[in-house]
Amino acid sequence: MEFVVAVVAVVAVVAAGIDSGRSGSTPLSPLAATGGAAFDQNCASCHGVNGTGSDKGPPLLHDIYNPGHHNDESFFRAASQGTPRHHWNFGDMPPQSKVSRQDMTAIVRYIRELQEANGIVWRKHTM
Ligand code: HEC
Repeated sequence: MEFVVAVVAVVAVVAAGIDSGRSGSTPLSPLAATGGAAFDQNCASCHGVNGTGSDKGPPLLHDIYNPGHHNDESFFRAASQGTPRHHWNFGDMPPQSKVSRQDMTAIVRYIRELQEANGIVWRKHTM
């Protein structure tokens, strides 16, 4: 548990760096910036600002969401069908039917760029 808290704290700092410095060290690509706006509107209420989690949903800037464990298709599936509670204790994620596949393409880009900026990269799925 302590490990998770530490990771989220580091993530918050780096993500804040990205936000305040769009012209700074780690700018988001245009597609990711579009995705960030869609994320804030549709996902941040549960997954937190910059995907760092809230009391309603888990951080997506977490190693279990690295692309080797949760590939892009699992993100599309979560948005279109929702996902039952299985990794955490926040309850089920309801389908996000107002989020189009096109919006999701940008949202996934946004999450992946934030993940990469925080050292969360593809790892072989071993669980
Ligand atoms: C009402 C709250 C809520 C909203 C809104 C929400 N989620 Fe979730 N989401 C959850 C919860 C809770 C889980 C964790 C389920 C578990 O593993 O226990 C989750 C899990 C996920 C997962 C992991 C799926 C898997 O296969 O394990 C992804 C990816 C995801 N959410 C993406 C998104 C995206 C993108 C959006 C916005 C389009 C979004 N969520 C909006 C609550 C939410």
